[in-house]
Amino acid sequence: MNETLKIQQRHRSIRSYTDQPVSDEMLNAIVEAAHRAPTSMNAQEISLVVVRDAERRARVAELAGGQAWVAQAPVFIAIVIDFHKTELGLRKTGATQVAHESMEGFGVAAVDAGIALGTMITAAESLGLGIVPIGGIRRNPQGMIDLLQLPPLTFPLVGLSIGHIAQDIEQKPRMDISSYRHDERYDASGYSAAIDAYDETLMEYWKRNGRADGTPWSTNLAPLSRVYFPQVKPVAAMQGLLNDK
Ligand SMILES: Cc1cc2nc3c(=O)[nH]c(=O)nc-3n(C[C@H](O)[C@H](O)[C@H](O)COP(=O)(O)O)c2cc1C
Repeated sequence: MNETLKIQQRHRSIRSYTDQPVSDEMLNAIVEAAHRAPTSMNAQEISLVVVRDAERRARVAELAGGQAWVAQAPVFIAIVIDFHKTELGLRKTGATQVAHESMEGFGVAAVDAGIALGTMITAAESLGLGIVPIGGIRRNPQGMIDLLQLPPLTFPLVGLSIGHIAQDIEQKPRMDISSYRHDERYDASGYSAAIDAYDETLMEYWKRNGRADGTPWSTNLAPLSRVYFPQVKPVAAMQGLLNDK
């Protein structure tokens, strides 16, 4: 296995960081890796906002529902859907942008944001840094918009905390790969057994790692029984991302 694959196979989210800063060289390499990542139609409708100021990171941590590791890690990068940029480009040609009002447009931008996130994860981990993605910034998207001074037609979709690892952890097990990889056609016949087995595996993992509050995977899914971040739709709409086409 080559080094890139080894790094990807070793991924685990880190929630304990030292106060050692991430060097400019490392940070630039991580951001430049994402900058080279593909985007749909080369639209480049993604922007990153790098937050290093401790007080501002503390505010992000608070907006994300009190996630201490966001304040602790020296770097936080917000991945922003940026239809403001594309609107300026399109306006130059006299055309009017509609994509930002569509589910297709939001989906495309979310995919491109995910590619940026994944690229930065591999880049940071390849430098020996720890990371944790932060979807919690969608808990109070208006607060993030205000903090980052985001204009209309933009939306803070997800973030990434990056820093030097203080306390490493055992990798979290995954459900069996047979419930993930489908060859030629989709086949859900093994799902129930895989879920039962994974619920047990995850409980053993929590127990091994002293997490008395750990729950089985199926119980972990409780947030999916409601709209987890209900502010996303109204705030995205106020930003002009109507999602109604
Ligand atoms: C898009 C996305 C958003 C996430 N948001 C958060 C978050 O707000 N806070 C957090 O502590 N972890 C967050 N995570 C990390 C997941 O909880 C983690 O990836 C998952 O439990 C699997 O664990 P692992 O990454 O250690 O393998 C997020 C992960 C992803 C991919």
